[in-house]
Amino acid sequence: MQRIPLAIVGCGGMGGRHLRGLRELYGTDLCNIELVAVCDLRLDKAESLADLAEEMLGQRPRAFGDLETMRREMPDLQAVDVTTDSGSHHRVVSAALDLGLHVMCEKPLASTIRGCNLLIAQHRGSDRVLSVAEQFRRDPICRLTKALLDAGAIGVPQMMLHTTAGGGNRIIIFPWRHIKNVGGIFVDAGVHTTDLMQYWLGDVREVYAQARVMEPTRFKSSQRTATSEFYEAWHDEMPDTIEATAEDTVNALLTFESGVMGQWTSYQAAHGEGLFHWAIYGSEGSLRTEGARNGRPLTLHRDDEGEIAPEAQLALVPDMALDAITATLFGAECMASYDLTFAEADRKLVAVEYHELGECILTAKSPEVDAFTSRRSLAVCHAALESALLHRPVTIEEIEAERTCAYEADICAHWGI
Ligand SMILES: NC(=O)c1ccc[n+]([C@@H]2O[C@H](COP(=O)([O-])OP(=O)(O)OC[C@H]3O[C@@H](n4cnc5c(N)ncnc54)[C@H](O)[C@@H]3O)[C@@H](O)[C@H]2O)c1
Repeated sequence: MQRIPLAIVGCGGMGGRHLRGLRELYGTDLCNIELVAVCDLRLDKAESLADLAEEMLGQRPRAFGDLETMRREMPDLQAVDVTTDSGSHHRVVSAALDLGLHVMCEKPLASTIRGCNLLIAQHRGSDRVLSVAEQFRRDPICRLTKALLDAGAIGVPQMMLHTTAGGGNRIIIFPWRHIKNVGGIFVDAGVHTTDLMQYWLGDVREVYAQARVMEPTRFKSSQRTATSEFYEAWHDEMPDTIEATAEDTVNALLTFESGVMGQWTSYQAAHGEGLFHWAIYGSEGSLRTEGARNGRPLTLHRDDEGEIAPEAQLALVPDMALDAITATLFGAECMASYDLTFAEADRKLVAVEYHELGECILTAKSPEVDAFTSRRSLAVCHAALESALLHRPVTIEEIEAERTCAYEADICAHWGI
């Protein structure tokens, strides 16, 4: 199979996770990507990812400290995978498109709507692929959720309730997730949530919200989390405390275009017991999900039938079939649960993203999560933040058109856009 020569740009935590995704793809007979280079402003990080790649893939990619030199020295390079911090995405993606490269960018496409709109304008009419690496929806259980909702398993959806609480006053993953100009934790995690909710229930029309920096001082944690292993190498560099400028707590009321009502609480400063609850209610039942990358089954209740066991849920969607790469990696054409660790599931989903990028380049197929879909996920998050600032409901339309952009004005000023 033809393999697209690709470079990973951004060799931090997610760069390492993407490398593991590539190893997963290399292990299948559907591999259509080849890692030929890695790039980071910090050459030591690029060298260290290149070393790891040699260990994992059996071949050392070249390491670079900037995109332009890499492009000049590697004229056969066709694509980049942008895994830099979110604040820098619009600059790196724009430079890569200018250099004639196909791009897959980690979510969000940019940390501002202005950044998304500039990239959309730059990309218009181009034959280069611009895809956004949003892996949650690709999880087989999230695919099943979509299939069940589309098949009317709970009737007509009416209400979505979603709450996440945790984090306390710890630095969550890495310091930049508490800095507004680079990409706060609400947006960083929230775009996954808003992508999923719109994938399942259609577009959001309006948001009314409160938002706050509940924990202005964040402390380095010694506790391990699911993502710790990817950041271990840089843990010592992390300051003991940081002053947070990005909101960590948002309470939002949502109205979907379909009329579905939603309540979404993202409380990333909660002490004590953590909470994850995500349920969708319809005219004939309810569906509760445990989210992505854990393989836990859905809880489906139908009026008059009670709880539907996971295997029986599959009978409600007899035509459902995962795409070939997902079925290969997860071992079945559809499933109601799976037994994998977070890290195992994560790298399989990244492998699916890479494979789709390769297919889009080779067959001119459109990516599932394109610039518009990614902008919409960001727009719901920014609508919440703008609404909190303005004390009024805000529509997604006014956010995407940049008619309402007070919240992001200083982020745009910081990046000079
Ligand atoms: N999909 C997911 O589950 C998931 C999880 C974590 C992070 N992410 C996303 O991945 C991205 C990276 O996050 P991370 O946690 O790996 O960040 P990180 O801070 O660990 O790594 C970012 C790296 O990018 C480098 N960099 C910054 N600007 C650059 C530039 N112009 N050119 C080259 N290198 C540059 C930095 O030096 C750093 O090494 C973010 O957008 C984040 O939202 C996604």
